[in-house]
Amino acid sequence: MRPTQAWLADGPRTPLRRAEIHRRELRPDDIAVRIDYCGVCHSDLHAIHSHPGSGPALVPGHEFTGTVTEVGPAATGFAVGDLVAVGNIVDSCGVCPMCRAGQENFCADFPTLTYAGTDRHDGSTTLGGYAREYVVRDRFAYPISGGLDPAAVAPLLCAGVTVWEPIRALGVGPDTRVAVAGLGGLGHLAVKFAVALGADVTVLSRSADKTPDAQTLGARTVVSTDPDQMAAVRDTFDVVIDTISAPHDLTPYLRTVALDGTLSHLGHLGTVSVDMTDLLIGRKKLSSAGSGGRPATAEMLAFCAEHGITADVEVLASAQIDEALERLDRNDVRYRFVLDMSDLDG
Ligand SMILES: NC(=O)c1ccc[n+]([C@@H]2O[C@H](COP(=O)([O-])OP(=O)(O)OC[C@H]3O[C@@H](n4cnc5c(N)ncnc54)[C@H](OP(=O)(O)O)[C@@H]3O)[C@@H](O)[C@H]2O)c1
Ligand SMILES: [Zn+2]
Ligand SMILES: [Zn+2]
Repeated sequence: MRPTQAWLADGPRTPLRRAEIHRRELRPDDIAVRIDYCGVCHSDLHAIHSHPGSGPALVPGHEFTGTVTEVGPAATGFAVGDLVAVGNIVDSCGVCPMCRAGQENFCADFPTLTYAGTDRHDGSTTLGGYAREYVVRDRFAYPISGGLDPAAVAPLLCAGVTVWEPIRALGVGPDTRVAVAGLGGLGHLAVKFAVALGADVTVLSRSADKTPDAQTLGARTVVSTDPDQMAAVRDTFDVVIDTISAPHDLTPYLRTVALDGTLSHLGHLGTVSVDMTDLLIGRKKLSSAGSGGRPATAEMLAFCAEHGITADVEVLASAQIDEALERLDRNDVRYRFVLDMSDLDG
């Protein structure tokens, strides 16, 4: 086994703890990656907050970039020294209809998650990217082209592809009227993608605080807590990308969807209650999505390289992880924390 340094969560409200963990020895189609940067996703916060404080160790982190340090004998497409990115899926069955369709994120045998997943070969619990090294199957690492800042690329691998897939599946393009609910990690990338695709973009945010940022990104803002402003955009948006991280009533957001439009609910997972009348009036559709398949991930990275799109990041030393989580919890982030893992060498 390969020892590496990592940040472990012991329970919901305790600081993360630096400790040595072990990665597997490389399988033939594995590569070893020295993690340089790992994004801090709101899902990490949900995972830490729901951690029971016992059972398998939790090392969060599922959007990272790094440098290939070793290549298994059957691994293809990578050489030592290559820059790579890894997201929140590290394996899948490869044979089910979803995998064959390039939607490994929906694998019928459940995809192997980057952390808190179950390795499909040895049954171990996967440990995430708040660490200095990760060992990953070659198919689930993506080359990143030079030119883009690797720290700002890291969030594309979860936040980015999670909004990219529905934006593409829903045909967002010139003249599509798109609203993005919640301007956070996912939300600001949704705005960047939709703007780059030529859409007319509005941010639905709880206050006017982020209006200047939205404007810089190319979007106007509607304050979602202001009933008059929400009423003014009733039946307006072809696509609503809902990235809100807390449970919320969908009704006011569904009312902003245009005839035959779709609300894609990506943020807070779990049971939601919907009055069908809010879908009936306007033949509206409610959808969801999560993460991305390999083709969509590669397509997104190519689009980002072409358009110079990365996340707006605040880079912190990995030892500042508790500060990052605490500020993320109170919405004090513009728009993604990324941990620089190099301090784990010391
Ligand atoms: N489907 C998937 O596969 C997938 C993948 C990644 C993340 N997620 C989930 O997506 C959500 C967003 O993640 P993120 O990393 O983008 O989080 P984030 O950076 O914290 O952004 C969430 C945004 O939601 C809005 N918000 C927060 N609390 C709210 C509330 N009580 N009511 C209304 N709006 C609220 C805020 O926007 P304003 O300040 O503009 O109001 C905030 O910036 C999380 O729940 C995360 O677990 C899902
Ligand atoms: Zn995530
Ligand atoms: Zn599968």
